[in-house]
Amino acid sequence: MTIKKVLVVGSGVMGAGIGQLCAQQGFDAVISDINQELANKAKSNIEKGLSRRVAKGRIAEEDKNAILFRISTAGDLSPASKADFVIESASENLEIKKNIFKELDTRVQPEVVLATNTTSLSISAMAEATTRPEKVVQMHFFNPPTIMKLVEIMPGRKTAAETLEAAEAFAKQLGKDPVVCKNEAPAGIVSRILGQMLNEATWLVASNVAEPANVDKAMKLGANHPMGPLELIDLIGLDVHRTKMETLFKELGDFRYKHPELLNKMIEEGKLGKKTGRGFYNYGDK
Ligand SMILES: NC(=O)c1ccc[n+]([C@@H]2O[C@H](COP(=O)([O-])OP(=O)(O)OC[C@H]3O[C@@H](n4cnc5c(N)ncnc54)[C@H](O)[C@@H]3O)[C@@H](O)[C@H]2O)c1
Repeated sequence: MTIKKVLVVGSGVMGAGIGQLCAQQGFDAVISDINQELANKAKSNIEKGLSRRVAKGRIAEEDKNAILFRISTAGDLSPASKADFVIESASENLEIKKNIFKELDTRVQPEVVLATNTTSLSISAMAEATTRPEKVVQMHFFNPPTIMKLVEIMPGRKTAAETLEAAEAFAKQLGKDPVVCKNEAPAGIVSRILGQMLNEATWLVASNVAEPANVDKAMKLGANHPMGPLELIDLIGLDVHRTKMETLFKELGDFRYKHPELLNKMIEEGKLGKKTGRGFYNYGDK
């Protein structure tokens, strides 16, 4: 099937980035959210980012305009009926995602692949909310999706081989270098390994072993990591990180996936990372 129009559900950090990526690669992208205002805000942020790239001479003004022209926004899932491919990237909450998949099932054409960008929730559970579990697959992008080369592709229990192939082919059309997993497991490869490393960093702070800046400095200088684990949690979002660890703990039943109380406290205080202006670091007013 030729893909022209992609519906991205969720206009947050990842949804906006995936929508922008699709448009940059020449696809028409509809970015949707629970209301028009949120989706419009995402597009206006994309516009600001592209304008900065124009100002730095990285892209031409015409390219910026062409990318923006290919992006439309929606406050509901009505554009699903015209989509050739759907990427769900809404909040990391299984009930929310199941409801989205249930509604998508009633709206999209039968041949359309329904991909989820979930970090660690069950692909099969989302698939079971539809009447076409063979069409549901995970396509896990990395932050920021316009830059990061990897897309992890993972089947649910009933995903058809051709759906996996279609997801892999589409990831390549988006300029990515995908990895396809053989079976479903929470958090795939990178997030599972990284999640545990990031968790360990939060325990070091929670147990008063070192300040966040020193934990990050140690990993940058001692392990040659380009950014520290706590900087990375701030980028991912503390709430998103916590949800992943909760899922890993629940699904794999291993204490090493447990997160410290400090994380709950920070989330309660609204310190979700860069997106709220405060996390392990202070980013000033958002
Ligand atoms: N943040 C990361 O680094 C990262 C990386 C890879 C994958 N992910 C995954 O991507 C997904 C989105 O994460 P994010 O960081 O962009 O979150 P986010 O909180 O920035 O954005 C989530 C968006 O989903 C919207 N949303 C909630 N319910 C919705 C609904 N019913 N319909 C449409 N939109 C709805 C919210 O309004 C919000 O705008 C999650 O599943 C997350 O696990 C995140």
